[in-house]
Amino acid sequence: MAYDFNKIADNYDRLNHLMTMGMDRCWRRRGARWLMHNGIWRPKCLDVAAGTGDLAFEMYRRGAAEPVVCVDLSEKMLEIASSKLSLEAECIVANAESLPFDDGSFDCVGSAFGIRNFVHLEQGLSEMVRVLKPGGRLMILELATPDDSFVRLFYNLYAKYIIPWLGERIAHNREAYTYLPESIERFPKGRTMRKKIENLGCKVRHRKFFFGVCRMYKCTKNE
Ligand SMILES: C[S@@+](CC[C@H](N)C(=O)[O-])C[C@H]1O[C@@H](n2cnc3c(N)ncnc32)[C@H](O)[C@@H]1O
Repeated sequence: MAYDFNKIADNYDRLNHLMTMGMDRCWRRRGARWLMHNGIWRPKCLDVAAGTGDLAFEMYRRGAAEPVVCVDLSEKMLEIASSKLSLEAECIVANAESLPFDDGSFDCVGSAFGIRNFVHLEQGLSEMVRVLKPGGRLMILELATPDDSFVRLFYNLYAKYIIPWLGERIAHNREAYTYLPESIERFPKGRTMRKKIENLGCKVRHRKFFFGVCRMYKCTKNE
């Protein structure tokens, strides 16, 4: 079953920025910049597992057509997105594994830190590719464990002790922030993830940020 983000919606943004030392904003910005450099004037954009709407906002700032469509399972996360993006976004409560759009509806699809939470990853990925136009761009940001064993030592200490502690102190929810590092540990990354998206009919490039703690998958749907 998918984790219920309604429980942590109120503190989500604050904790997110704190735990990544503000780098999450920069990663979303870089993702949105790549999505928008696609040669299309005012592309139609979708943010999948949009949460509180920060990636949608970055897409809007860089020239996406209005409204950017935000899809998420959590009503509370989308309420916060709506309050931040009252005119710029249309928020729809829906499951990414069964998107309520026709094939080829969007020029750009983005998802930041969401796909790790899908119950059926392949189904969610295949839906994101389905709703994309041929030649359209899909950008996925996701957290991962670093490859380097020395860096991983520090990462493990941070993920196992500091993150749950911050979760308890700020969101009063240790469980959610114990789930976070566990879900990152289990999740496919790098070449394995690239192959999954290539199998759906995309060309994929992959880049790492901050020792590989965040990965960006830049995917272009085959014409
Ligand atoms: C870690 S938050 C990421 C939110 C936001 N994209 C960001 O950049 O911060 C993960 C989000 O994915 C949503 N989510 C998880 N599974 C989903 C699914 N199957 N369909 C739609 N949204 C989903 C959760 O409700 C949550 O808002």
